[in-house]
Amino acid sequence: MQMINNDSSKKILAAYFSHSGNTRVIAEQIKKIIGCEIFEIKPINVYPNAYQAVVDQAKKEINANYKPPLTVNLETIDSYDMIFIGSPNWWSTIAPPVATFLTAFDFNGKVIIPFITHEGSRMGRSVSDIKKMCPTASVVDEHSFRGSSVKNAQNEVIDWLKGIKY
Ligand SMILES: Cc1cc2nc3c(=O)[nH]c(=O)nc-3n(C[C@H](O)[C@H](O)[C@H](O)COP(=O)(O)O)c2cc1C
Repeated sequence: MQMINNDSSKKILAAYFSHSGNTRVIAEQIKKIIGCEIFEIKPINVYPNAYQAVVDQAKKEINANYKPPLTVNLETIDSYDMIFIGSPNWWSTIAPPVATFLTAFDFNGKVIIPFITHEGSRMGRSVSDIKKMCPTASVVDEHSFRGSSVKNAQNEVIDWLKGIKY
């Protein structure tokens, strides 16, 4: 395992949602590189695989500010100091299950590090939307990754993590 800057007194979590696997690839890289815990955010009702169907459903949910229930959730995030939050860019923001996760806990005083995979619009409004959901957390050091290139992004992940103070 390759560790970068890791202050072992800090507990770090990488929580992510992934529909087609890209965001998962980055989350697994983070886990491998810094040795943190990982949590997959999964909605009870899985999104359709057909592209147009998921695009339509996502649009409706985002416009309605819908927070889909999750299969399981963590009991608490109290023991974590720093939480990486991973999401695909859906309609320029985070996917609804990530909004469910972020609004389920009190992130007061926590450090949130967003990572977003996308196909052209990078972070979109994701960071400002996360800040609205977690107004007393410090949301810093975000990074976006091109979804179609995640399998070759290992060096980009390493460089990004090297720049994060923890
Ligand atoms: C419902 C939906 C909406 C999307 N909206 C955007 C968008 O607004 N901008 C963008 O760059 N990519 C958009 N994409 C592409 C995804 O962000 C990209 O493929 C991402 O890497 C998927 O991550 P995943 O494999 O972890 O689900 C969208 C994809 C879907 C399915």
